Amino acid sequence: MIVRPAVQADAAAMAELINAIIVIGGTTAYEAPFDAVSMEASYIALPELVSCFVAEDAGGVVGFQGLMRSFDPDDPLPEGWATIGTFASVGITQRGIGSALFARTVETARMAGIAVIDATIRADNIGGLTFYQRLGFVDYDRLSAVPLRDGTPVDRVRKRFDVQT
Ligand SMILES: CC(C)(COP(=O)(O)OP(=O)(O)OC[C@H]1O[C@@H](n2cnc3c(N)ncnc32)[C@H](O)[C@@H]1OP(=O)(O)O)[C@@H](O)C(=O)NCCC(=O)NCCS
Repeated sequence: MIVRPAVQADAAAMAELINAIIVIGGTTAYEAPFDAVSMEASYIALPELVSCFVAEDAGGVVGFQGLMRSFDPDDPLPEGWATIGTFASVGITQRGIGSALFARTVETARMAGIAVIDATIRADNIGGLTFYQRLGFVDYDRLSAVPLRDGTPVDRVRKRFDVQT
């Protein structure tokens, strides 16, 4: 497996990967499917993007991880912070894909002067919470009862990782 920066040509494969996670439900906060255009806009060409890496094996893209500075006016992050999202192919999790991506993301964050990485995770996403905890993230906040599209309230746990300079 190699880890490399995402390029425009990866957008369709990245959309396919995340859509399989969205269909299962219960982990990612995304509820609507992506296509290549929306994936490129969100994870490859986003002006606030710090980095997006893909993990690739002989069969193609098996994971990706994006890091972006504050881009949501309704949820501003402090100066010097960036938020992270990680996705590994359904069926091949817990084999090191997410960790391999994070090694590259941290290195890039440090070079970009990012002091703190935020991970905002659904409180019912036990796997996601465990993953970020294993990487060294610690809780710093909780958003109560953020509604899903059908109105179901789900808390969000906010974790932070302080980038060593
Ligand atoms: C969360 C996710 C990205 C983790 O990726 P991954 O490739 O499985 O992660 P790794 O194999 O590198 O795991 C790193 C550590 O976290 C642990 N871990 C990862 N997923 C876990 C799970 N579901 N349950 C328990 N522990 C888990 C691993 O066991 C490993 O622990 P170790 O350090 O003791 O070896 C992946 O499960 C995924 O894509 N989930 C769906 C999307 C999602 O929830 N993303 C997070 C919110 S953005």
